[in-house]
Amino acid sequence: MSTPRTPLIAGNWKMVLDHQQGTLLVQKLDWTLKDAKHDYSAVEVVVLPSHTSLRTVQTLIEGDKLSIVLGAQDVSAHDAGAYTGEVSGPQLAKLGVRYVAVGHSERRQYHGEDDTLVAAKTAAALKHGLVPIVCVGEALEVRRAGQHVEFTVAQVESALAGLSPEQVAGLVLAYEPVWAIGTGEVATPEDAQEVCAALRGAVGRVFGADAAAAVRVLYGGSVKPASIASIMAQPDVDGALVGGASTDAVDFASIVRFRDHPA
Ligand code: 13P
Repeated sequence: MSTPRTPLIAGNWKMVLDHQQGTLLVQKLDWTLKDAKHDYSAVEVVVLPSHTSLRTVQTLIEGDKLSIVLGAQDVSAHDAGAYTGEVSGPQLAKLGVRYVAVGHSERRQYHGEDDTLVAAKTAAALKHGLVPIVCVGEALEVRRAGQHVEFTVAQVESALAGLSPEQVAGLVLAYEPVWAIGTGEVATPEDAQEVCAALRGAVGRVFGADAAAAVRVLYGGSVKPASIASIMAQPDVDGALVGGASTDAVDFASIVRFRDHPA
């Protein structure tokens, strides 16, 4: 039995745009998508600004009643307290944030985030009503050794350990091979499908068929307008987590409109 899964295209702005640039980008993005409002009913469009831009982007989305959905790039594993520099789930929820990326490879690589912390952040997001986008992906050596499926499946199993099937059904997984991030090296659609299917299979084994049918699995890594249609044509790929191309309104709008591209 298969459940229809609404495609999700999320733009991870990383540490690229300030709040003024972010506001302009969202305005231009909405304006670019405006003549095809139906895009928003067929595709969920999410932006993940830096924490410093969340308030201004939220104000714009609410004030102009935009259909663009707000996300954040990270969340603390803690609810509140003396954690200098961290931003909590309740703080993000209060700002109207719906999605939050956890375990992005840049957090794992540059900030020492391990599977235990990623699991704690995933649980914190769910506890506060946020939808985690749980990011996994292998480095080049792991792929060269042919271990990419086992590696990413283990990352997912660790991140989701202890959750209920219902919680897992509602969250999002993102397969982002580290060697394809910001390198221009895009995984082939078959590479993306292989791992996304394996992640869904792992969800099915641990949490059951309904959770596997409902969980959305994204691909990320050098996604561009020219590559999105063939990636989205894969049966187990439900969307994309876009970095560089999401900071250009025209490119990001084109990615959102993957259905209009020739596959
Ligand atoms: P790029 O699209 O720039 O490769 O970034 C991918 C990514 O890390 C999204 O989270």
